[in-house]
Amino acid sequence: MNIDILLGLQWGDEGKGKIVDAISPDYDIVARFQGGPNAGHSLEFNNVKHILHLIPSGIFHPEKLNIIGNGVVIDPAVFKKEIENLGPSVEELTKRLIISARANLILPGHRILDAAYENSKGCLKIGSTLKGIGPAYTDKVARNGLRAGEILRKDFRELYNKHLEAHLSMLRQYDFKFDIKEYEAGWFEGIELLKKFRILNTEYLINELTVKGMKLLAEGAQGTMLDIDFGSYPFVTSSNTISAGACTGLGVSPKSIGEVFGIFKAYCTRVGSGPFPTELNDETGNSLRELGHEFGSTTGRPRRCGWLDLHALKYAIMLNGVTRLFMTKGDVLSGFSTIKVCTGYRSEGKECLEIPFTDQAVEPVYTELPGWEENISEIREFDKLPKNLRSYIAFVEKQTGVPVTMVSVGPDREETIFRK
Ligand code: GDP
Ligand code: IMO
Ligand code: MG
Repeated sequence: MNIDILLGLQWGDEGKGKIVDAISPDYDIVARFQGGPNAGHSLEFNNVKHILHLIPSGIFHPEKLNIIGNGVVIDPAVFKKEIENLGPSVEELTKRLIISARANLILPGHRILDAAYENSKGCLKIGSTLKGIGPAYTDKVARNGLRAGEILRKDFRELYNKHLEAHLSMLRQYDFKFDIKEYEAGWFEGIELLKKFRILNTEYLINELTVKGMKLLAEGAQGTMLDIDFGSYPFVTSSNTISAGACTGLGVSPKSIGEVFGIFKAYCTRVGSGPFPTELNDETGNSLRELGHEFGSTTGRPRRCGWLDLHALKYAIMLNGVTRLFMTKGDVLSGFSTIKVCTGYRSEGKECLEIPFTDQAVEPVYTELPGWEENISEIREFDKLPKNLRSYIAFVEKQTGVPVTMVSVGPDREETIFRK
């Protein structure tokens, strides 16, 4: 069982990138298994902040292998920009990064279709990042996709043109203006760059290396409450963000999975539309947004903020089989005199034991806990954290039955407390 999974338990942006980077030294391989450039994973070290969209967050550790798995959808134009802004040379990065031949490509038409669909949705907009994710996964499932392995084919341009025609004909149904040419140029430059990387049947490589004893960390994108099956449908992304997605998105069996690390923020945020029972549309919500710099890493949109939702967190723990909880952004809660935690929902006067499958209105039931004043970003030992913060964590552990074994106290790699 040499594969551990790290994933988000809320609506994304829990701090996955930071933690993957911080624990990468314990692994040989870091692999992304789903999502695409809708993800924005931030990590910070030596006072520099990096935001990754497609590339796994182990990339800054020179000796580690990074894999973009078959479950990911790749936009070559985004890939190119990301590679060029990373720092290390392309030659060096080709040693550190391998791409699955089976990963589907996001084509320029997918991006435009994403925008056209959203534009046509009126007040039911999903709030998509508009990176072409939904249309690319739609083509994958409809068995119309173009995959990374195909870029080496001599007739690739013809294949591409066939897809373009299909997309243009779909777009004719929408009253939507677009210019595909400009994006296409960057996209084809991205294809040329992709050709410099090893594009393999990575499922073989992953199985061979992990059977030999190498340790792999599977890095999730988005969060459990955005999962295509279990999230607040239709306000979700188009992939399985839960731990099962790591098996299909990398080509590994459930038997190979060891730990499942579930990351949660000490409060909740959500970008885009959809239910958010503990959302705070008031001064407290604004304070969380300002103190936590809650603006999207991919789109810059303000994130909606609210109290920690343990009812939803327990659901996420159940779906993923979480073995350890990692808590981020507890430092943002410093200074609140009391902190609320949602322990259940009520609907139409009755307790609502399950997470509803519709956007049925629910009312959160809160428990109020005492806050703490201290700035905690310099603290590196769990026992030195303020007593009320430790009680907050103990409350989460008691409610969920899962230990919190890592506490992040700031965005930097070093601002991390591991608890034995
Ligand atoms: P991801 O998508 O899960 O990787 O998360 P994002 O990178 O989109 O958003 C998390 C944001 O919080 C980023 O700006 C991180 O730099 C920052 N961050 C991560 N952990 C902490 C923490 O413990 N405290 C604070 N203050 N910021 C954090
Ligand atoms: P990371 O990996 C937060 C949200 C969008 C929208 C919905 C569908 O950084 O946590 P899509 O572009 O997939 O069609 O958007 O999902 N969303 C995210 N929210 N973090 C993300 O990724 C997200 N990726 C998508 O805002 O509501
Ligand atoms: Mg993010």
